[in-house]
Amino acid sequence: MSYKITVLPGDGIGQEIMVQALRFLKVVAEKFDVSFQLEEKQIGGTSYDLFGNPLTEDTLESCYASDAVLLGAVGGYKWESLEHHLKPEAALLKLRKSLDLYANIRPARVYKSFLEASSLKNEILDGTDFVVLRELTGGIYFGQPRGYDKNEGYNTMRYSRPEVERIARQAFEIAKTRGKRVTSVDKANVLEVSQFWREVGKEVHKDYPEIELNHMYVDNTAMQIVRNPRQFDVMLTSNLFGDILSDIAGMITGSLGMLPSASIGEKYALYEPVHGSAPDIAGQNKANPIAMIASVAMMFEYSFQMSHAAKLIDEAIERTLKKGLRTVDIQQQGMKLVSTVEMTDAIINQFEEVANEQAVGMFLL
Ligand code: IPM
Ligand code: MN
Repeated sequence: MSYKITVLPGDGIGQEIMVQALRFLKVVAEKFDVSFQLEEKQIGGTSYDLFGNPLTEDTLESCYASDAVLLGAVGGYKWESLEHHLKPEAALLKLRKSLDLYANIRPARVYKSFLEASSLKNEILDGTDFVVLRELTGGIYFGQPRGYDKNEGYNTMRYSRPEVERIARQAFEIAKTRGKRVTSVDKANVLEVSQFWREVGKEVHKDYPEIELNHMYVDNTAMQIVRNPRQFDVMLTSNLFGDILSDIAGMITGSLGMLPSASIGEKYALYEPVHGSAPDIAGQNKANPIAMIASVAMMFEYSFQMSHAAKLIDEAIERTLKKGLRTVDIQQQGMKLVSTVEMTDAIINQFEEVANEQAVGMFLL
C-alpha cells in the first residue's frame, strides 16, 4: 500500500516535533509493507511570513489530494496582533472547515508509568481512560453573525440538526468499540442551542439502545473530570466546550505534551497534537515529541487501518516512559531529562524492540 500524506509542520515547536514524526513514518514504512508519499506545505504564521496568507490554496489543494494530513502546531507571539483572518489560528479553523473535519477525537488516557506526574492523586486517576469527542466545524467558532466594533463584540452559538446528528452518531459508534457509555455535555439550563443539542442527542440515541447515554452540564463536567475521571467513557460535546474540557483532560493525564488528536470527516482526516506551538521553547530541542508521535499512531489506526502499528507505537511510548526518560514538560525528580531528539531515539529503539519481540513470538507460534 502507498499513502499520500500532506505534512504541515506549522509554527514554533510544530517544526521540530514534525521532524521526529517523519522519522517514525520512515521506521514504520521499513517494518511494514507500506510506503508514504510526503508533501510538505506551510500553514500558520510560517505561511503568512512567506506568502502573506496563513493558509494558501496550494496547501489546501495538497490536503484535498491526500489520504491524511499531519499537522504540528500553529501560532506565536509574533502574529498575535495581526487582523483576525490573518492569524495562524484562523488558518487552522479554515482548514478544519474546508476539509469538513467535524469529529475531533481527543483521548485522555493515562500512561501507567506516568501516574505520578499528574496533578491528581493516583487513586483518583488510576484507570482513567476516556475520549473527548468534540464537534469541530460548527458552534460558536463558526456561527454567524459575528464581529465587533467600538461598542460591542458578538459571536453566535448555533447548531443545525444534521450537525448535531452526525457528531452524536459518531459518539455512539465510538462508544460501541469502548465502554458503551456516552456523556453528552451542554449548558441546557441556560442556552437554547444546548437544549436543542440535548434533544437531538436523545433522538439519535434511539438507534443505539445498547449504549448508555447521560447528560451533564459543562460546569459540572469540568468539576467531575478532576473529581472522578473514571466515570467517563465517551464525552460528546460542542466545539467551544470541547476545546476547554480537552485541555483539562489533558492536564490530569500529566501534560498536554502527551495528547494526540484525530479530526475526521466523511472524506478527509487530520492528525495533530492537542498542545500548541509553545513559542517560548521553540527551536531549543526541548519539546515533548510524544503527542505528535501518538498522533501518527492515531493516523495509522483511523486512516490506514494499521492498528497493529499504532499499538506498537503506543507500547514503545509506554516502555520509554517506564525507563524514566522525561522531556522538560514532564520532568520529575529521579528521572532522566532528555531532549526532543533523544526522546524520539528512545521511542524508536523501543519500537524496534517490541516489533522484534512480536515477530519472534509469531515465529514460535
Ligand atoms: C485546539 C486549539 C485551537 C482551537 C486554536 C489554536 C484555534 O486550541 O485545537 O484546541 O481552539 O480549536
Ligand atoms: Mn484548545
